[in-house]
Amino acid sequence: MEKDARPEATSGAVPATVPAPAGQRAEKTVAETAAEVTHTVLYQDINGVGRLYGGRLMEWIDEAAAIVARRHCGGSVTTACIDQLQFRHPAYRNDIVDVVARVTYVGNTSLEVRVDSYVEDVRDGSREKINRAFLTLVHVDELGRPRPVPYGLRMLTDEERSEHDDALKRLELRKLRREEHY
Ligand SMILES: CC(C)(COP(=O)(O)OP(=O)(O)OC[C@H]1O[C@@H](n2cnc3c(N)ncnc32)[C@H](O)[C@@H]1OP(=O)(O)O)[C@@H](O)C(=O)NCCC(=O)NCCS
Repeated sequence: MEKDARPEATSGAVPATVPAPAGQRAEKTVAETAAEVTHTVLYQDINGVGRLYGGRLMEWIDEAAAIVARRHCGGSVTTACIDQLQFRHPAYRNDIVDVVARVTYVGNTSLEVRVDSYVEDVRDGSREKINRAFLTLVHVDELGRPRPVPYGLRMLTDEERSEHDDALKRLELRKLRREEHY
């Protein structure tokens, strides 16, 4: 059967997956694994006052992050942690919600994925941010045990490098939180 590569994986001057120098991991670019998942808010997604359930948005965020993490790892992942679930803007029935996810940091067995969710205004294509979340996902084997992420992260833009620097700070905060059982 003929297989097509994802367009992002082949576009641009820089090849997406970069082969590894001896003793190092090969790398994947941020764009190569990024995902945008679009949903229409349906009747079953709304609460008693007609707004999108926070829990449904959490599900969509988790799903988008897992897609990106699975693409990056080339295997199975599980969600270890979700940061930031403040809902800044409501969405209502029939609204279009875009959930945009990309890798910001790759550790040994874990990786961080940033997920931005927006409600789209179809009249002019503008969108309002509902939430920005950072998820930590762990690459796992068939028994659910952590296993090394086989690819490092290749950052090509200043924005990606700056996001990675911020991810290192968040990593330290999470470690502190875990040590303090918070
Ligand atoms: C996530 C899980 C596999 C981690 O297993 P573990 O034995 O604690 O693994 P480790 O302590 O070796 O940590 C593995 C990696 O995960 C990271 N990690 C583990 N718990 C974390 C947490 N709460 N927050 C952020 N990172 C975490 C570690 O920093 C480490 O990263 P690194 O290898 O890149 O440095 C395990 O806790 C688990 O299965 N949890 C349930 C996950 C689940 O079911 N999620 C779905 C929703 S219920």
